[in-house]
Amino acid sequence: MKQIPLPPTNHTPQKYSGPTAEEVLAKRKQFMNSGIFLYYKKPIMLVEGAMQYVWDETGKRYLDGLGGIVTVSVGHCHPYVVEAANRQNETLQHSTTIYLQPNVVLYAEKLASKLPGDLKMCYFVNSGSEANDLALLMARAATGNYDVIALRNAYHGGNSSGMSLTAHSNWKYNVPHSFGVHHALAPYPYRGPFGYDDPDAGKKYSDDVKNLIEYATPGKVAAFIAESIQGVGGFVEFPQGYLKSVYEHVRAAGGVTIADEVQTGFGRTGTHFWGFETQGVIPDIVTMAKGIGNGCPLAAVVTTPKIAASLTSKVHFNTFGGNPVVSAIGKAVLEVIEKENLQANALQIGNHILAGLNQLKEKHKIIGDVRGKGLMLGIEMVKDRTTKVPATAECAQVVETAKDLGLLLGKGGLWGQTIRFAPPMCINKADADFLLAVLDEAFGSV
Ligand SMILES: Cc1ncc(COP(=O)(O)O)c(C=O)c1O
Repeated sequence: MKQIPLPPTNHTPQKYSGPTAEEVLAKRKQFMNSGIFLYYKKPIMLVEGAMQYVWDETGKRYLDGLGGIVTVSVGHCHPYVVEAANRQNETLQHSTTIYLQPNVVLYAEKLASKLPGDLKMCYFVNSGSEANDLALLMARAATGNYDVIALRNAYHGGNSSGMSLTAHSNWKYNVPHSFGVHHALAPYPYRGPFGYDDPDAGKKYSDDVKNLIEYATPGKVAAFIAESIQGVGGFVEFPQGYLKSVYEHVRAAGGVTIADEVQTGFGRTGTHFWGFETQGVIPDIVTMAKGIGNGCPLAAVVTTPKIAASLTSKVHFNTFGGNPVVSAIGKAVLEVIEKENLQANALQIGNHILAGLNQLKEKHKIIGDVRGKGLMLGIEMVKDRTTKVPATAECAQVVETAKDLGLLLGKGGLWGQTIRFAPPMCINKADADFLLAVLDEAFGSV
């Protein structure tokens, strides 16, 4: 295999002196959730990170092309974020919402300033699943309706609300779930009935939501929820006009609209700060997690004062929501995105990579589709471009080869057939060229 040099870095990792990867693997098998999976035939162990790079215990460096599953937004251990966390850790680590605390309100004000329209009321929680659970509660309280429309090929979390909204058999346990949740056709131009060549695809997919409301619900719904680009589903981008038309159908049926920005938020799509803006809509509720905290357990729901008012008849409480340390981190992340123009970087580097991926598609027949926006790019692999049979084993092999060459990538799609690239947004052109050279080599090997 041709070795491709990683772009240089100033960071020198510390010498690692902890347990070996084999010991960690054995303890993980003995003491941890056996349902979670590991990537790679020989799992790698990461012990240090600096911006877009991570190191394993042997000192081998990797370009992190997945950012801890679309979570490290501004860079591993970004010094500005670390500084904010350390300062707060030394001052007051926890207080809870029953007392006033400056960090959380300053952060809420800053976060609200990033959202359009009336989206000004922030609720802080700890994970994306919790954020979606709360969004459902709000939607039901605000509308008095129960039924919810979600999409097939969606992922919204692993708790019982998240699993009910998710529509991927891989993530759904055989327990009663999804009561009141109806899954509409995924607006998936590469595989769905309306393709890239259909200028009315957005409207045609949205008709399925209308149809579902008319046939499968009492005619009234609480909400429609969708990721702005489907993440776990393989970075599926909706046809233009889709969300606009769906939002009209849902609002006509008394429902509110929820945008799950857990993966698409915080500038990652490059052209806009929020993924929903790429479709020209303003939702009633936005849920966010992952990139919001650059790796710390922080998530949020932002909604309008009117919808927020519907939750005031009872107490809604979350022990860690808006903790002083995570609030300091969340605010620092927003400041870094602004100061370092990371959204513009996501657009510029993302476009450069997208152009390179389209060239690779010309060369490697196993690439069926290249798609995505900014630094959220997917490559769907097929055994045959006509039948579109998913190339699951080949996708795993490309991801494995890339790892050997120093590049970490993700997989997505129902059959694990889509490569996902969503690195920290601080990557540069040399990293992008490294990625393209590694992918060329890895695709050539299958
Ligand atoms: C779009 C989306 N929503 C929600 C979640 C759930 O987030 P968490 O794992 O923080 O509960 C995820 C996690 O991957 C996600 O990708």
